[in-house]
Amino acid sequence: MTFQKHMRLIIIGPPGGGKGTLCEHIVKDYGVVHISGGDLLREEIAMGTPIGLEAKDLMEQGRLVPDEAMIRLILNRMQQKDCVARGVLLDGFPRTLSQAQALTRVGAAFDGVVVLNVSVDALLERALGRRLDPTTGRVYHLKFQPPPADIASRLVVRPDDTEERQRYRIGVYNKFRDQLVAHFVGSVVEVNGNQPIPKVYDEFRLKIAQRLLDKQRVAPTNPTSKL
Ligand code: AP5
Repeated sequence: MTFQKHMRLIIIGPPGGGKGTLCEHIVKDYGVVHISGGDLLREEIAMGTPIGLEAKDLMEQGRLVPDEAMIRLILNRMQQKDCVARGVLLDGFPRTLSQAQALTRVGAAFDGVVVLNVSVDALLERALGRRLDPTTGRVYHLKFQPPPADIASRLVVRPDDTEERQRYRIGVYNKFRDQLVAHFVGSVVEVNGNQPIPKVYDEFRLKIAQRLLDKQRVAPTNPTSKL
């Protein structure tokens, strides 16, 4: 299979739904730059920046970081040379209508907006079994993506991966999901996230290929994105 290079995509999906896991596969095959809002914030926290200091408690509680700070962070990252050269994969941004409107306002164009749909039961099971390797940043799952035995003792649990916080985060996601889908109507590709990881990726590849073909038919030239 050939993969379109220089793609520009958004992945929208519930917390712990498998966005990051799907992005790992996409980056490997399509060569795009992965921009995760959560990862950027965790870097800011590690560096002790003002945004990081503001974000730390909010993230631990599963609450959203204010739009203004989030928009600044993402737009700065999108303007860096690697994103311009290789294309971008926005993961977990936008999460609110005003974040989506900010992208539109600056003229950022996307080839598609992937919406990952996952049931609440699966979201709880995925968050509660998730383990993070602090050395490599890799994400595992005790049941679905078991870590190698030799690194098991160094894995950590994210502070927001408790049942109570996961339920709260799902509520926050549900509040904005339909507004985001409506904002990007015409570009949305829905993927069933209630399947094993390889099947989710297969469905993504089929649907995004179809979306790119449809887009070519409507507008045969590439979109010009100001970002
Ligand atoms: P962030 O880190 O982005 O958290 P999230 O959206 O809650 O998403 P996660 O990273 O938890 O999950 P994921 O969908 O990537 O799933 P994963 O692949 O790990 O954000 C954290 C916080 O930062 C937010 O709560 C907020 O405070 C703040 N923030 C971030 N962006 C913001 C924004 N735009 N605006 C304001 N605030 C923002 O998978 C989960 C587990 O399931 C893993 O263990 C994995 O192995 C397993 N798994 C994955 N896929 C499958 C599958 N198909 N079957 C079985 N298991 C699977």
